[in-house]
Amino acid sequence: MREKILVVDDERLIRWSLKENLGKSRYEVIEAENGNDALKIFSESLPDIVLLDINLPDMSGIEVLRSIKGMDKDVPVVIITAFGNIQTAVDAMKFGAYDFIEKPFEIEKLNIVIEKALENAFLRREVTRYRTKDGDYALESIVGNSLRMQELKKIIRRIAASNTTTVLLEGETGTGKDFIARVIHDQSSRSHKSFIDVNCAALPGNLIESELFGYERGAFTGASGSKKGLFEISSGGTIYLDEIGDMNYDLQAKLLKVIDTKTFRRLGGTTEIMTDVRIIAATNRDLQAKMKAGTFREDLYWRLKVMQLLMPPLRERGEDILLLSQKFIDRLNVEFKKHIKGLSEETMKLFLSYKWPGNVRELKNVIERAMILESEEYITPEHLPAEIAQSDDLRTVKQKSGERFDIPIPEGGLDIENVEKELLRKALEMAKGNQSKAARLLNLGRDAFRYRVQKFGLEGEMSGEN
Ligand SMILES: Nc1ncnc2c1ncn2[C@@H]1O[C@H](COP(=O)(O)OP(=O)(O)OP(=O)(O)O)[C@@H](O)[C@H]1O
Ligand SMILES: [Mg+2]
Repeated sequence: MREKILVVDDERLIRWSLKENLGKSRYEVIEAENGNDALKIFSESLPDIVLLDINLPDMSGIEVLRSIKGMDKDVPVVIITAFGNIQTAVDAMKFGAYDFIEKPFEIEKLNIVIEKALENAFLRREVTRYRTKDGDYALESIVGNSLRMQELKKIIRRIAASNTTTVLLEGETGTGKDFIARVIHDQSSRSHKSFIDVNCAALPGNLIESELFGYERGAFTGASGSKKGLFEISSGGTIYLDEIGDMNYDLQAKLLKVIDTKTFRRLGGTTEIMTDVRIIAATNRDLQAKMKAGTFREDLYWRLKVMQLLMPPLRERGEDILLLSQKFIDRLNVEFKKHIKGLSEETMKLFLSYKWPGNVRELKNVIERAMILESEEYITPEHLPAEIAQSDDLRTVKQKSGERFDIPIPEGGLDIENVEKELLRKALEMAKGNQSKAARLLNLGRDAFRYRVQKFGLEGEMSGEN
């Protein structure tokens, strides 16, 4: 199949020459001579790539670019700009242009840019397809093959399809509660209505109350008019009450009433208003402890618990750690235009033994950082934060460093420098010549290690790897 190129330029000669040149090779070329035509033709014929002159007679090229990106964020747009007008081109890059090329251009150069752009777009689409299937929050976008995640996905599918109006999501920070709440909403019959995210810890109680319930004129000082509440506005949709554990006690009672009766009154109001809203509540705190402490209502707790989802911590699902890592790497390769293949074996081991207190969010951040720094094919421990790179083995070394251990001294005595040299040699041997591994075995930083290796002339025992 020939790929379709849309050429947008008001100069006829340029359009003609592009059609002549590109049309002869493997592309089908369609043209537009102004911004309006371009948008119309774009929406009708969905080209694979757009060559866009930034100076158009009827509207700014940037505007055209933004509209195109609004229709299809993955389509590559290459800006054609007059010689010396680089600044506009650079601005266009900020709005998502793939690259720019200056007039007059060599057709060969342009061909290369087009090829690269198409290849890049292909990869981007692959990733998006994986991620979205039918929207950003498809069930398929929940990464995880562990038994617990498989089970969880099944329940999520069921909840989404059900009429259950309350769901409680419990789990440590970063386990994906926000994310799952969105999936539940998007996969439910409520998806065409709004999803409203209310953070109960971020606002003072009375403000949350007036947001949720709305108010009538004069309900409190400053209420000069009436206002609809979120329960009213989002009827038919979903309200996500994040950090429900921090909701104030009185408001908890009012919430329970809404859940039970599906009706509520605006603040200062007298009429009962019906609402059909699904409430997804989330917490990373121990609600039972809060209940014992008397800050969380027992009746609300039991009511919410009817449909409860427990997000498992990442450390309890080892295979997902590796799977998620690979997904994040694949995704970021596209974003950062890198070609990192995966985790090095050593990194895998460290990842599997680390406790991940920040769960998936922490893993994502760690990978993002490592990808920026890494220049090898695999992510090596060198670019991991210290708390992860220092494996359990090393921690044991450190713990034991106060203890004594036995190094026999021969009758004739020994040279302490030789002992050090021998230790370095041994570490390199154990690490098969890999510097960072060897350095870690001796609890030395890379520079400190390298310095000693040079001092003792052991460079020959290092492998090419570092
Ligand atoms: N199973 C998963 N697959 C893919 N991405 C995930 C998964 N779980 C979590 N994430 C990602 O991890 C990040 C953290 O998730 P999220 O914000 O939903 O956590 P949370 O449980 O709400 O945390 P907190 O309690 O701190 O609010 C998000 O970027 C989310 O997209
Ligand atoms: Mg959250």
